[in-house]
Amino acid sequence: MSQTAAIPNHVALIMDGNGRWAASRGHERTWGHAAGAESVRACIKGALVAGVRWLTFYAFSTENWKRPAEEVEGLMELLCDSIVKETPELVEQGVRVVVIGARGALSEKVRRLLEEMEEQTKGGEKLTAVLAINYSGRAEITRAASALAAEAMGGELSPVMITAETFAAQLYTAGMPDPDLVIRTGGEKRLSNFLLWQAAYAELYFTDVMWPDFNEDQFREALDDYGRRERRFGKIR
Ligand code: FPP
Repeated sequence: MSQTAAIPNHVALIMDGNGRWAASRGHERTWGHAAGAESVRACIKGALVAGVRWLTFYAFSTENWKRPAEEVEGLMELLCDSIVKETPELVEQGVRVVVIGARGALSEKVRRLLEEMEEQTKGGEKLTAVLAINYSGRAEITRAASALAAEAMGGELSPVMITAETFAAQLYTAGMPDPDLVIRTGGEKRLSNFLLWQAAYAELYFTDVMWPDFNEDQFREALDDYGRRERRFGKIR
């Protein structure tokens, strides 16, 4: 009897390599980001085909504000254009979009478009695509600690009641499953402040492929690699 390889329930993606991909072709970095948007589409398609239920994309980190203003503006513009262009198809595909990160620092226009996309796609039941925008894992954890400390100071919470579960309920990802697989493209092997709490037991997959070249086949290859891993969660077997 053949056994179906395990499909991860939640795949998180660190989309690295856009700038290098563009530069190696004699273009501006923003051109690489635009090409990278196609890879987001490809992963959504690959996830729908494979039956992956959750995808999280690291679209903009808190540290990304330190890039040249022109690049930051280009990324925000790309985000706005992608939302307008992709939302109808996402609705058709049954994809729900949820945004995590510190929205307060985003422009009024970006915040409005993100909210509209969340509202318009909220009925999607096949896949949830989480966009991490102005996201930082450490900031997320600090924010949760601060919220719990405020509750404790207010007498609503006893410090002994703080558990991994009550802590996780204060994160942006409250109610979402932890990622089973974290994929990073672009050749670097680090987490770069992404889902630090949530990725505690995730399998890590690093590839030298630059994000704009990461297509549906590459996504499937990562899933197949995951299917061959043995996950023990601290146990012997
Ligand atoms: C990292 O590559 C990539 C980013 C900071 C942005 C990722 C954003 C997209 C792919 C845009 C599309 C996303 C959505 C959700 C529409 P890098 O610029 O650090 O590449 P480098 O390491 O080669 O410089």
